[in-house]
Amino acid sequence: MQHLIRTADFTNEEIFTLYNDARMFLDMETSDVLKGKIIVTLFFENSTRTRSAFEIAAKRLGAQIVSLDVGTSSRSKGETIFDTVANINAMKPDAIIIRHSDCGLPGSLVDHVDCPIINAGDGKHAHPTQALLDLFTIIEHFNGDTKGKKVAIVGDVRTSRVAGSNKKLLPRFGMDVCFVAPDCFKDDSNNYKQYDNISEIIDEVDVVMSLRTQLERHNEVFFASIHEYAKDYCITSETFGNRDILLLHPGPVNRNVDISDDMLKDKRNKILEQVTNGVAVRMAILKKLILKQ
Ligand code: CP
Repeated sequence: MQHLIRTADFTNEEIFTLYNDARMFLDMETSDVLKGKIIVTLFFENSTRTRSAFEIAAKRLGAQIVSLDVGTSSRSKGETIFDTVANINAMKPDAIIIRHSDCGLPGSLVDHVDCPIINAGDGKHAHPTQALLDLFTIIEHFNGDTKGKKVAIVGDVRTSRVAGSNKKLLPRFGMDVCFVAPDCFKDDSNNYKQYDNISEIIDEVDVVMSLRTQLERHNEVFFASIHEYAKDYCITSETFGNRDILLLHPGPVNRNVDISDDMLKDKRNKILEQVTNGVAVRMAILKKLILKQ
């Protein structure tokens, strides 16, 4: 049984095959390849993009989707997450998609279920479907020529599961990942180049991936105000100038903190293209894991 807990669960060859399917699904309104299949989503953290994209992806493939309303589920009566998942599994779904604030929780479920588990984001650990759609967006933008491309991931790297997944995935496709962040948000490892300010690296980068400041995942207050942080880390038209750089963000964007209003209107920003690609890539992931092809 194959699951998607981290990007390392798919080989590069599997990812290229996945993207061939995603390209096909981008051009296709609907399909019935998952007709008769039932997919359960368990979102213990809020979501706009990931949850809706999975629901639309499942429906476009002809599957039915059951989204457990965790707020009104029996979790509030003291049931453990393992028992909740065991009960959902006993109803024989064809896949379970789970988002949870605990790092490693989706991975710890795989030995307790009879269907694929898809990690839709676990704490600050991993967000494999986001990284796979980010890579797809980069590959399509550069017509497959990703070798040697320099990607600066800017902002709250330390608590970002998107950074956590991309820093492992993008180098597998020849890209050079670096981080731009204040000390309090820098990556804990010494495996990547890290910069204090985007101006140090802006002339060399091909892609800027801006991140949201995940204040809910920090126990300390680092800035007098979020606007102090934004003075140095908000991506503006002045930051980019007339350089040919691809601007990405996983969403949700905090306007004028992560990215300025003017850059959100700029053609170099492909954030909504990421969202569109996210449905097609998730269609391909559901097909691969449920049909095992
Ligand atoms: N990118 C992302 O995970 O967005 P949501 O939190 O809205 O799902």
